[in-house]
Amino acid sequence: MTEERKSTGKSAPYRAFFYPMHLALLCVGKNFMPMAWWTPVSKEPFRFLFAMDRENHTLILLRELGEAALTFLSWEERDWVVRSGYLSGRRVRKAERLGVDLRPARKLRHTQVPEGALAVFELEVMELPLEGDRALFLGDVVHAEGSPQAKERPILFLGFRDYATLGERWRFRP
Ligand SMILES: Cc1cc2nc3c(=O)[nH]c(=O)nc-3n(C[C@H](O)[C@H](O)[C@H](O)COP(=O)(O)O)c2cc1C
Repeated sequence: MTEERKSTGKSAPYRAFFYPMHLALLCVGKNFMPMAWWTPVSKEPFRFLFAMDRENHTLILLRELGEAALTFLSWEERDWVVRSGYLSGRRVRKAERLGVDLRPARKLRHTQVPEGALAVFELEVMELPLEGDRALFLGDVVHAEGSPQAKERPILFLGFRDYATLGERWRFRP
């Protein structure tokens, strides 16, 4: 395995001034968790990057299965989506506990996604060898599906325990 890239040791203290972040639900196997620290990084090939806390059970599943689905739920589903971030798949079956219906992913072998997801990106994942409190994963999209509704009422995470959805809209006309 490639050696872990070390930090320069010059990093400033963490500050959360970059919120809001669009909240996703990351599904791996039959487990899932809310995830704010994700971003698209390439169109061709189509790829996402995300940061996984090393304490999460999902990290073990990612390493074991090498796959994940990045999914998006509407504002109306926020209660169980957020609640799943206060439970661990190490101890509970979240889908049963929260009453969430899952269906198999289309291309992934082990992963299930919520029936109500408005967008689903199925990923083959690879861990990047970087030091730090989060493990970084690159996900190659092997299947994508969604509805235009996905961007109508997103769950936006403001930090701490605060959330919002969209208010004003504006179309730029050059
Ligand atoms: C709003 C919100 C955003 C979160 N974003 C992330 C994230 O980007 N990365 C991460 O590793 N954990 C994130 N978490 C924490 C995990 O969702 C949480 O630790 C979860 O219980 C892990 O479940 P697991 O042990 O089944 O993997 C977030 C939690 C919440 C409530």
